[in-house]
Amino acid sequence: MLGNFSYSNPTKIYFGEDSLKFLNEELPKYGKNILLVYGGGSIKTTGLYDEIIKILRDKGKDVFEDAGVMPNPTVEKLYEGCIRAKDNDINLILAVGGGSVCDYAKAVSVSAYCEEDPWEKYYLRMEGVDNKIIPVGCILTMVGTGSEMNGGSVITNYASKQKICRVFGENVFPKFSILNPVFTYTVPQYQMVAGFFDIMSHILEQYFSGEDDNTSDYIMEGLLKSLIHSSTIAIKNPTDYEARSNIMWTATWALNTLVAKGKSTDWMVHMIGQSIGGYTDATHGMTLSVISLPYYRFIMPYGLQKFKRYAINVWDVKPEGKTDEQIAEEGLDQMESYMKELGLVMSAQDLGIKENMLDGIASSSFILEGGYKAISHKEIVKILKDSMHYSQ
Ligand code: NZQ
Ligand code: ZN
Repeated sequence: MLGNFSYSNPTKIYFGEDSLKFLNEELPKYGKNILLVYGGGSIKTTGLYDEIIKILRDKGKDVFEDAGVMPNPTVEKLYEGCIRAKDNDINLILAVGGGSVCDYAKAVSVSAYCEEDPWEKYYLRMEGVDNKIIPVGCILTMVGTGSEMNGGSVITNYASKQKICRVFGENVFPKFSILNPVFTYTVPQYQMVAGFFDIMSHILEQYFSGEDDNTSDYIMEGLLKSLIHSSTIAIKNPTDYEARSNIMWTATWALNTLVAKGKSTDWMVHMIGQSIGGYTDATHGMTLSVISLPYYRFIMPYGLQKFKRYAINVWDVKPEGKTDEQIAEEGLDQMESYMKELGLVMSAQDLGIKENMLDGIASSSFILEGGYKAISHKEIVKILKDSMHYSQ
């Protein structure tokens, strides 16, 4: 049964090979001062930077740049961006990059006019936004996070070993996002597959919760099947447009709030993964891949029927002559083979985690109770240990 909910999503999407031209339609809606936000330089190497600068200049915009947004953007970078946005009276923040750039743009958009420390107000105390918000538009170059159509904004504070995801309301969602699958062709393989697994994790963490029959679970099974099919093509041929476009669109739907409507969600893999991120600066998708199998094998007995359904509907496991446990385990075994085929990192050790960090990582993991089992600190340490001792 679906619970009660309201649903809307304000982000306008322009999708496809020609989508960049729609920037021309969006720009007249905003004032003259544009803050172009991007990462470590991939957009210069690919030529996208030049194309965008030309469009902005042709539209008579004054362009201010905020470059060097790092994967897992930091609170120090956020403070710097706030000064740049406010000093230049920015009318639109144009984020060109992956989830880190989009997340950072949203953080600057709410923080530039915040009269106190935005880290404390928006990330620690999770207060509502009561100051001016600068509109954000995104041009996505890396697929995974769903940041292009949601209110999520993850900022890391390495001094306090905290990586925190703030989910802002619709007024902070990007006003528009341009999704051209071709822009993602140049993403390095390691980042590409980490992004694929980020998508999978977003879906699974909303799927493995609740036992009712509801539309959201059927949508997620479809998204998972599309992702599994297309990702195995993309690892062999990264320029397969059909595969890359399907993956791009799946990523957006995996985390644009739709599939969580009317049902409970888990999110513990992300909570532990983010905590690892506060300690290691590891690639986000890989922090999820090292935790997922130990976590799901641990909670499987508490949500057995859903794990059985997952095995049959997503992995085509044949149920005849098998117990529910055998079916469910076979589903997770198939997921493990798929993860290895993608080349994901499977052990926490391979992300630089040491035994003496486990207690701290577990302590800084937020514990959410929407899944099949409310896990304890001790159980998180056990899951981390299982990941440390994972053998291929
Ligand atoms: O910085 P550049 O030079 O652009 O290189 C980037 C970066 O090194 C590179 N890249 C991106 N597009 C490229 C490219 N290289 C070549 N060609 C291209 N077309 O890829 C690297 C990783 O980029 P990044 O933006 O960090 O990756 P991702 O999209 O995975 O974003 C990760 C961040 O998003 C947060 C994560 O925690 C992490 O901080 N998340 C945001 C969420 C949200 N907003 O809802 C939810 C997610 O669960 C996630 O937590
Ligand atoms: Zn994620």
